[in-house]
Amino acid sequence: MAPLRPNWQPSYASGNTQVDNEHQGLFEVLHSVADAIEEGKSAPTIYVLLNYLVRECVAHFANEEALMRASGYPEADRHAEIHRRIAGRITRLLAENAGRGVDELEVVATLFYDAVVLHMLEEDRRFFPYVRPPERCAA
Ligand SMILES: [Fe+2]
Ligand SMILES: [Fe+2]
Repeated sequence: MAPLRPNWQPSYASGNTQVDNEHQGLFEVLHSVADAIEEGKSAPTIYVLLNYLVRECVAHFANEEALMRASGYPEADRHAEIHRRIAGRITRLLAENAGRGVDELEVVATLFYDAVVLHMLEEDRRFFPYVRPPERCAA
């Protein structure tokens, strides 16, 4: 199974610099995980990267929730609850796979891909219009 490597597309951008920088940062960590697996790095090295991804993801969720609330996004509570569930799942998965081999960690990486990329493509899109800077008038 080849490691998943998400490619950033311009259509993924929210228009909010902080959100977009953080999303691209998470993509970069996923790339680092894929690189480490492809290069045959050891399980502890891959585990450190996955641990870093979880911490970055949790930090991003907190920042995103603060932005959503500040922007008046009406579904901020529901979105924060989704974050809480994802954060719990990836934290648990990581803990359960401590000391496991590369094959198991590759499965964990795939599940993290779902948590990060699919969440961004589906759920995050709903608040993008609220955090986008206002369009400048053409006049
Ligand atoms: Fe996000
Ligand atoms: Fe989100």
